Amino acid sequence: MTVDPPWALLAELTHACPLRCGYCSNPIELVGRSVELTGEQWADVFGQAAGLGVVQTHLSGGEPLLRRDLPQIVRAADTAGLYTQLVTSGVGLTEPRLAALVAAGLRSVQLSVQHARPDASERIAGARSFAAKERAARLIRTAGLPFGLNAVLHRANIDALDELIDLALAWGADRIELANTQFHGWALRNRAALLPSRDQIARARAVVARRRELLVGRLELVWVAPDHVDGTAKPCMGGWGAISLTVAPDGTVLPCPAAASLPGLDPPNVRAHRLDWIWWHSPAFTAYRGESWMRDPCRGCALRGVDHGGCRCQAYALTGDATRTDPACRLAPDHSLVRTLVDRAARPRGDLTHVHRAYREEGP
Ligand code: SF4
Ligand code: FES
Repeated sequence: MTVDPPWALLAELTHACPLRCGYCSNPIELVGRSVELTGEQWADVFGQAAGLGVVQTHLSGGEPLLRRDLPQIVRAADTAGLYTQLVTSGVGLTEPRLAALVAAGLRSVQLSVQHARPDASERIAGARSFAAKERAARLIRTAGLPFGLNAVLHRANIDALDELIDLALAWGADRIELANTQFHGWALRNRAALLPSRDQIARARAVVARRRELLVGRLELVWVAPDHVDGTAKPCMGGWGAISLTVAPDGTVLPCPAAASLPGLDPPNVRAHRLDWIWWHSPAFTAYRGESWMRDPCRGCALRGVDHGGCRCQAYALTGDATRTDPACRLAPDHSLVRTLVDRAARPRGDLTHVHRAYREEGP
């Protein structure tokens, strides 16, 4: 099979975060600050990534603003020739901080928001944060950077889509990404509380269609489909080891942010291996690349080149076997698992609350 070089690098600079969202896809076992890569090590990673063919990096976390050396990290990525996007909660973004990042070569910002109403947003985030987000939006707009708002959708906010889109307009965003929750890490733990009903999804879809038509040329609306309800597998990460790589805070390199959960994957680390070997030859990146690992029904399916058999991490989370067809697909032998979850989500469920993400700072 032909393998192309990657074009994107998700750089998880830290798992620490002032927010505690229960839909977070970070792993339950978060990486401690003492084992994070240094700025110099990140600079080396960016240089290797550029040499490999990567053209853009998303500087993410956790909250990347918690890295005091973020301007140096941005400068290193920019010097390597990578387009840099900061993915942030906005908490901690001040005018001097943003100015330093722009001077270092920051090109765009994606700001998260949990709900359009301050009280609901902070309830979901598990932290005071809405005023900081509002301020961050103003600063990003004033700096003239391309500005995207990102809302992860779930049962507690998907009925507020109109309000979220109005918020994106009021804050002057160029685009809003309405991303249905992917159930990995903390989100998987909270799946029962987060999964929206079919009716909620149908209403949301109608809102997106209506507003998208009205907003052409003013605001780009991106809808990341809910695979559980749709009965279709998503082409997760554009295919395993196909277009991008993720570097976790401790230097572990993964084909997708959730892959650390897969048993036996033995993911490599930039401290021990070069990125080009990791991309082209490491067992972790070749494990589910291409189609030879597929079983029926994917093996003979006309859509296997489109959705690549769906998400390996979801197949593992639901069936305990990462080589099975993603149960989100209506053709999957295990699709009833997903149907049961969605059927349950339709029932009145009282006050199902979710667990907030917990990050324990390492003590002395
Ligand atoms: Fe995709 Fe496999 Fe389902 Fe076909 S059977 S649609 S390839 S997940
Ligand atoms: Fe890992 Fe989909 S999240 S393959």
